[in-house]
Amino acid sequence: MLFDPVKFIEEVKPQLEQIVDGKAVAAVSGGVDSTTAAALAYRLLGNKVIPIMIDTGFLRENEAEKVKAMVSDLMPLQVVNVSEKFLSELEGKDDAEEKRKKFRELFYNTLSELVKKYQAKYLIQGTIAADWVETQGGIKTQHNVLVQLGIDTEKTWGFKVVEPLADLYKNEVRDLARYLGLPREIYNRQPFPGPGLLVRVVGGVSREKLEIVRKATSIVEKYLEQEDYSQYFAVIFDSHSNYDPEISKEVGCDVYTYTAKATGVKGDVRAYGRIAKVDCDYKDYERLRRVMEKVTSSDITHVVTKVADGYNEGKYSIGIRAVLTQDFMTADFAKIDWGLLGKISNEILSISKNIKEVVYDITTKPPATIEFE
Ligand code: XMP
Repeated sequence: MLFDPVKFIEEVKPQLEQIVDGKAVAAVSGGVDSTTAAALAYRLLGNKVIPIMIDTGFLRENEAEKVKAMVSDLMPLQVVNVSEKFLSELEGKDDAEEKRKKFRELFYNTLSELVKKYQAKYLIQGTIAADWVETQGGIKTQHNVLVQLGIDTEKTWGFKVVEPLADLYKNEVRDLARYLGLPREIYNRQPFPGPGLLVRVVGGVSREKLEIVRKATSIVEKYLEQEDYSQYFAVIFDSHSNYDPEISKEVGCDVYTYTAKATGVKGDVRAYGRIAKVDCDYKDYERLRRVMEKVTSSDITHVVTKVADGYNEGKYSIGIRAVLTQDFMTADFAKIDWGLLGKISNEILSISKNIKEVVYDITTKPPATIEFE
């Protein structure tokens, strides 16, 4: 059925109007969902709503300033910088779920302080259907899913959560954003996860990895924003890997498995398994797809293929990910032109001598997730 924004706003209005008896902080991450939720609330309730963007230190380059400028006609967005606190608390943590949980704790503690500061009673956030479906399914701890997990937000943080978009899917959120008059840069923006670059600094968190992946992300975005992909970004992980003779024999290509782990979805449940690299002597995406399918039948969640060699002593691998999807619940990898991938990789290699290689992720969702953690 076609999504009707007018009808939707009528339906969701009573939920937002419960805020008449108090103020609300609207958490904006810079992604389509939270920006749309905040814009909708601000349109309906005016300055009862205080839109805030928390700079966690895990944002993309100049992201806070960019988002503030993009929405300046729609709402007065404030940026609160707490990056030092987040970085010092997350540095050294390496388990994906532990990182997400810590991020969530820091994030909501910060919001709790802001809610108190503004004497607000509510927190508006942009949780959408896919977020809580996957969190309840145990696939991952989506940072913004609280109520659906039985967390009493009033008791824990002192605010009630309002989620006007909770029943919508991504394409419907985009339609709503367009209807609300949000700039094209927002509704056409690729999604960006709440925990930001934290889930793309795969494994142990360090300031060096974060700075490299931030720069690599800008490069990937610069080259791929012209293409019609649903989401595209860079990840960084430990380059250490071992040759696996058994899988190599089975698939007829050299296969290496990394010590770094990444998340996937297998049989509707979350998997946390190894990342593998395949080195085949052909560059045919459909043949590589068949190899990927075989390789992921074990505990492997993401399969990458080498695009460019960097520095021999380099500690890090940079992964490029680009996917095509309708609803972000399933996704296909994009068949990016190999020449373009080469160009992107060359620029990425100029970031740091600690980059050993640049690889491209050729895994569908399932068995991989779109993000690596
Ligand atoms: P996965 O990696 O689960 O991602 O296949 C599906 C979509 O969700 C985004 N994502 C998040 N968005 N908070 C968000 O707001 C999160 O914690 C989060 N984790 C993943 C991801 O970027 C993709 O678009």
